[in-house]
Amino acid sequence: MIQRVFVIICLLPLNQAALPLVINTWHFKDAANAAWSTLQKGGSVLDAVERGCARCELEQCDGSVGFGGSPDERGETTLDAMIMNGDTMEVGAVADLRRVKNAVGVARAVMEHTEHTFIVGESATIFAENMGFMSEDLSTNKSIAIFSQWLQQNCQPNYRKNVFPDPSKSCGPYKPKAKLWKPKNPKRNFDPSSHDTIGMIAIGKNGQVAAATSTNGATHKIPGRVGDSPVAGAGAYADSTAGGAAATGDGDIMMRFLPSFLAVDLMRNGDQPTVACKTAISRIKKYYPDFFGAIICANTTGGYGSWADRSALHDAASQGRLLALRTLIAQGHSVNVLTIDHVSPLHEACIGSHVACARALIDAGANVSLCRADWLM
Ligand SMILES: *[C@@H]1O[C@H](CO)[C@@H](O)[C@H](O)[C@H]1NC(C)=O
Ligand SMILES: *[C@@H]1O[C@H](CO)[C@@H](O)[C@H](O)[C@H]1NC(C)=O
Ligand SMILES: *[C@@H]1O[C@H](CO)[C@@H](O)[C@H](O)[C@H]1NC(C)=O
Repeated sequence: MIQRVFVIICLLPLNQAALPLVINTWHFKDAANAAWSTLQKGGSVLDAVERGCARCELEQCDGSVGFGGSPDERGETTLDAMIMNGDTMEVGAVADLRRVKNAVGVARAVMEHTEHTFIVGESATIFAENMGFMSEDLSTNKSIAIFSQWLQQNCQPNYRKNVFPDPSKSCGPYKPKAKLWKPKNPKRNFDPSSHDTIGMIAIGKNGQVAAATSTNGATHKIPGRVGDSPVAGAGAYADSTAGGAAATGDGDIMMRFLPSFLAVDLMRNGDQPTVACKTAISRIKKYYPDFFGAIICANTTGGYGSWADRSALHDAASQGRLLALRTLIAQGHSVNVLTIDHVSPLHEACIGSHVACARALIDAGANVSLCRADWLM
């Protein structure tokens, strides 16, 4: 089974501000390693985030990045990606990219071979082909199976509202309803497991910042739908005078608040990364208390932090993810380490104990991926 957790992979001794730094959303370790080894071999921070995200595109990370995932209402996989150079503030982005696997590579080509920032749809595919990218079918047996199952269950769930026939019961084609209906307790058909997204920040030895994202969007999206990932300031942002941020979650909601831009701007004004991340999420929660999302933040001296809504964190912590544990602690929650496979005096001492222990483990650099955490309400 695919694990759905919010987590950060960070290739650094924890708690220690040091450079360079690579940090990304979710448990995409190979992506972090690809970025890290790019830096070790003398590559730039832009090379690092591009290679890191490209690794996820190849590995189809969690089915939510790259080909063969998140089929839309017509069964097609389309890709969104962006890359940002925090030295020059250049951005390259593509969205609704069809039949090309390496979306982040095409985004970089937009940045380096055009005066534009953002190219979309069929035209982005033509651009990519001209730039030498291969055009191929992005469907897989898995994406075809997801799509046929969805058709069999009357196109449920979907993202339609105020249309007829009733979108909660029937497939389209849909027509607009004359009278708009506002439910008392609006509930989004958003399935947190249907979109992950890799968002990655790299900070170079001298504080140069780059960020990139890549995703195949939301499963059963309306064709042409673009999420937050390729939008500068929403999915990611980089500014070498302040820091970098990248977000993941319910992109339709998140992109309304430009959380990555906000977090970077807050760090510019002196906020610590964790505080900046928290404010960016809180701003959204004020309007959408139930939205699902998380953000990572890193500053130019290598400090980093993260924030997530409760459900995302809970999932991650229950998988024993280290940074989720740290974030929970930073949020003032008690963390109960239930089981640890690794046996050492410190590990043993931690079984059944709480926050101080988790902190001690983390400070000791222990392999807390072996821990399980639970809520102690
Ligand atoms: C996909 O399905 C086809 C037809 O059912 C089958 O021949 C093929 O081996 C499958 N491919 C993979 C990668 O499972
Ligand atoms: C970056 O964040 C770290 C950790 O929170 C903090 O110690 C450091 O002062 C910050 N650096 C800047 C330039 O704000
Ligand atoms: C940490 O735990 C994971 C999961 O069991 C394991 O794959 C990894 O090798 C461990 N790392 C270290 C440094 O012990």
